[in-house]
Amino acid sequence: QARSAMIACGLALNRRGVNQGKAGNASVRWHRGGRDGLLVTPSALPYDRMSIEDIVWLSLDAEPSGGADGPMPAVVDAQGRVPSSEWRLHRDLYVARDEVAAVVHAHPPHASALACLPAIQAGGIPPFHYMVAAAGGRDIRCAAYATFGTQALSDAVIAAMHGRRACLMAHHGILAVGAGLAAALALAEEVEALARGYHLARLHGGPALLDDAEMGRVLERFASYRP
Ligand code: 13P
Repeated sequence: QARSAMIACGLALNRRGVNQGKAGNASVRWHRGGRDGLLVTPSALPYDRMSIEDIVWLSLDAEPSGGADGPMPAVVDAQGRVPSSEWRLHRDLYVARDEVAAVVHAHPPHASALACLPAIQAGGIPPFHYMVAAAGGRDIRCAAYATFGTQALSDAVIAAMHGRRACLMAHHGILAVGAGLAAALALAEEVEALARGYHLARLHGGPALLDDAEMGRVLERFASYRP
């Protein structure tokens, strides 16, 4: 069921315009035989050709065989399957954040475009709309750029995700986490909707911003509304 849900998540991302083609990846925290680990989508396989046997289980202490950023495939599971090139990023989030049970990474058009702008890379998406708080703070941060699939990218995302549930990734896309796959998927969709809204507001002269005190009130309400 978990493996099917991950494939359904990839298909839903594409169907809802939050991703396209074989971009992106998804994972869920998954213990096996007393070992902490994760189930993650395989690398470079289109979601509409993915079957449950293609989903890869990795231990949380998985280490790459070819050095920290060695050539891919860096790790394979016991069946020889190759996990997403972003396995480090997924693994590191589960290690760093006990409450995270699912991780979704996608390349949505509006959020990815904004993540290429210097102002967004420096300051994130500002509080132009109260739903910015859904990502867990007063803005939606943008993780610094690093080559896909590297430890440096994982480190940049972990930093941007500090205290947050979602972030942009410079020149790349977005990442969202949740207490389950459905929550992470819904948040990824929300972040893309916010990016689209912010883009439109900028086209019309630039939005007014909610002030710090108001965002504080929104975050307080979110704590009970969407824990
Ligand atoms: P994978 O197919 O290896 O998961 O890579 C897709 C991607 O989006 C890399 O950032």
